[in-house]
Amino acid sequence: MSHSDLVQDNLVSLQTHVLAEEARHPGAEGDLSWIISAISLSGKTIANKVRRARLDDVLGAHGTENVQGEQQLRMDVIANEIIMRCLGDRASIAVLASEEDEEPRILRKSNEGGKYCVLFDPLDGSSNLDSAVGVGTIFSVTRNDANEPDGERTVCRPGTEQVAAGYILYGSSTIMCLTTGNGLDMFVLDQAIGSFLRVRTGLKMPERGAIYSVNEANASSFPEGYQRYLADAHASGYASRYIGSMVADVHRTLIRGGVFLYPPTQKNPTGKLRLLYEANPMAMLIEQAGGLAFSGDRRTMDIHPDRLHQRVPVVLGSRSEVERVQSFL
Ligand code: AHG
Ligand code: MN
Ligand code: MN
Repeated sequence: MSHSDLVQDNLVSLQTHVLAEEARHPGAEGDLSWIISAISLSGKTIANKVRRARLDDVLGAHGTENVQGEQQLRMDVIANEIIMRCLGDRASIAVLASEEDEEPRILRKSNEGGKYCVLFDPLDGSSNLDSAVGVGTIFSVTRNDANEPDGERTVCRPGTEQVAAGYILYGSSTIMCLTTGNGLDMFVLDQAIGSFLRVRTGLKMPERGAIYSVNEANASSFPEGYQRYLADAHASGYASRYIGSMVADVHRTLIRGGVFLYPPTQKNPTGKLRLLYEANPMAMLIEQAGGLAFSGDRRTMDIHPDRLHQRVPVVLGSRSEVERVQSFL
């Protein structure tokens, strides 16, 4: 490799990447950089805990239910606490909202420096933990609304207002995908040096991909259009891949192309996935990578939320594959 190539093909950590991004925004005070660095620290800490879960005997139920009426696992609670401890002291955060907490946590008002809200699913796909399948953390950053005293209403913003979104996938490697609105960048945790190293910038997902990802056990209760789409996919030789952790299914869709669907079902008539900290951050990432994300006939990020834990149906992935699904709905 010639000297100039070496200079071009440099080694960039998440830290240097975020500082370089910040430098592109004159007047930026570094608040968002601080938040992303705190998310990175929580991701590394959760990755370590996830990989030791059986050794540390922290698998299994916590014995409580979260606001969603779902069994909370001990690792859900541990991941939630790790994120709270990493983000809690970031001076620019006004509100923290978690899948695991009924109410948002108000840390400080805008006149006390509260500039951003961070919403997150601390451990996505946690029911897969005991079988050592990929799980993840999903996060979304929005601006604090100085004129809105109510925490829940402050965080109920349309996905188009997100200033950053991303996930960390604890899979065969620990991967972070991040966007601050200027393309999707991908990082891999190098455990030897404890740093997320940048491996892709401005990643664009495949335009198409003959892979659909859905829990077919619910197929008979899907609205009819989804059933017609599945019949077409079966007849067109599509492959079916479903891991059951949204982060893992979405990451595969981002890398390999295809479409991920969680339609309305009998058990979850408005869909199972939560708009604010699952569907919206994933929608921002997928759109930044050139894909589409819809909830029913609406662009997911255009939906005006009215509740923190509101659920929506999700169809997201390669542009032509999502359009193909939409043509049947
Ligand atoms: P969480 O573990 O945060 O509750 O999320 C689980 C979600 C999502 O990760 C996944 O796509 C979906 O549940 C799978 O649901 P089914 O098991 O009903 O297919
Ligand atoms: Mn989840
Ligand atoms: Mn979760």
